[in-house]
Amino acid sequence: MEVVVVPVAEAARLAADAVEAVLRTRQRPVLGLATGSSPLALYDELARRHADEGLSFAHARGFLLDEYVGLPPGDPERYRAVVGRELVARTDLPPDAVLGPDGDAADLPAACAAYERAIADAGGVDLQVLGIGTDGHVGFNEPGSSLASRTRVKTLAEQTRRDNARFFGDDPAAVPAHVLTQGLATIRDARHLVLLAAGPAKAAAVAQLVEGPVSARWPATVLQLHPHVTVLVDEAAAARLELAEHYRATWRGKPAWQGL
Ligand code: F6R
Repeated sequence: MEVVVVPVAEAARLAADAVEAVLRTRQRPVLGLATGSSPLALYDELARRHADEGLSFAHARGFLLDEYVGLPPGDPERYRAVVGRELVARTDLPPDAVLGPDGDAADLPAACAAYERAIADAGGVDLQVLGIGTDGHVGFNEPGSSLASRTRVKTLAEQTRRDNARFFGDDPAAVPAHVLTQGLATIRDARHLVLLAAGPAKAAAVAQLVEGPVSARWPATVLQLHPHVTVLVDEAAAARLELAEHYRATWRGKPAWQGL
C-alpha cells in the first residue's frame, strides 16, 4: 500500500495521471467510479484534461461502486445521475458505457448477481476510484461487512446517513436506508485501487485503513490484502498515521518513472 500525503489538488492530479495511463494503454479501459465528495476534484481534473488536452474516454467503460435503493427516477442524488453530471456530461464517456447496480430492480439479489457478471464480462476493473467513510466503509460496506462479500443489499449505518445528509437537505432521515454496493471482494478484484481522502473527519478511518489490523470492524482495512493500492490523503486526513514521516520520505525518494 502506497500512502501519499499531498494537498487535495495534487491528489487529484496524481489520480488523474493514473486514470490517464489506463485510458492511453488499455484497448477497452474499465474504470470503477465512486461518488460522494472525495472524487470531485479528480473528476474536475479529468474533465479539464478532456477539454484542454483531448483526453478521450470514448472507448472506456465505467462501473459505479454503489447506488441507493428507493430514490425516485430523476432524483439528482442517484449515483448514476451524480456520475452523469460530474464525468459523463463533461467528457466523451458514452452514457450507455456506464453501469451501476440497479436500485430499482424488483429482484435486488438478481440485479446484484447481474452486476457482478457485467463487471466480469467487461474484463474486470482496471482502476477503481474509492473514498472512505468516517466509519471505515469503502463502497457502502459498513462495519461488520464480510471481507469476502460480493455486490449485495446493505443497510447504511446511522453515522453514514448523518454524513450524507448534506446531500439531502441536511436531513439524515431523507437519506435512503438501503443501498446496493460492490462487495469488498468485488472491490479487491480491481487491478489498481486509488483511494482519496481529505479532512480531519477521515483521520481515524485512514489510520485504521493503513495501519490497523485487518478486521470487519473497519472494512477498508481489507485493502491491505490487495497488491496495488494508492492512498492519496491530505495533511488533515493523515494526521493520525503513526508512520506519516516514513510515507513522506518514501514518496520524496520515489523515482518519477515508477508512477503510482
Ligand atoms: C461513494 C462511496 C462511499 C464514499 C464515502 C466517502 O460511492 O462508495 O464509500 O466514498 O462515503 O464519502 P465522501 O467522499 O462524500 O466523504
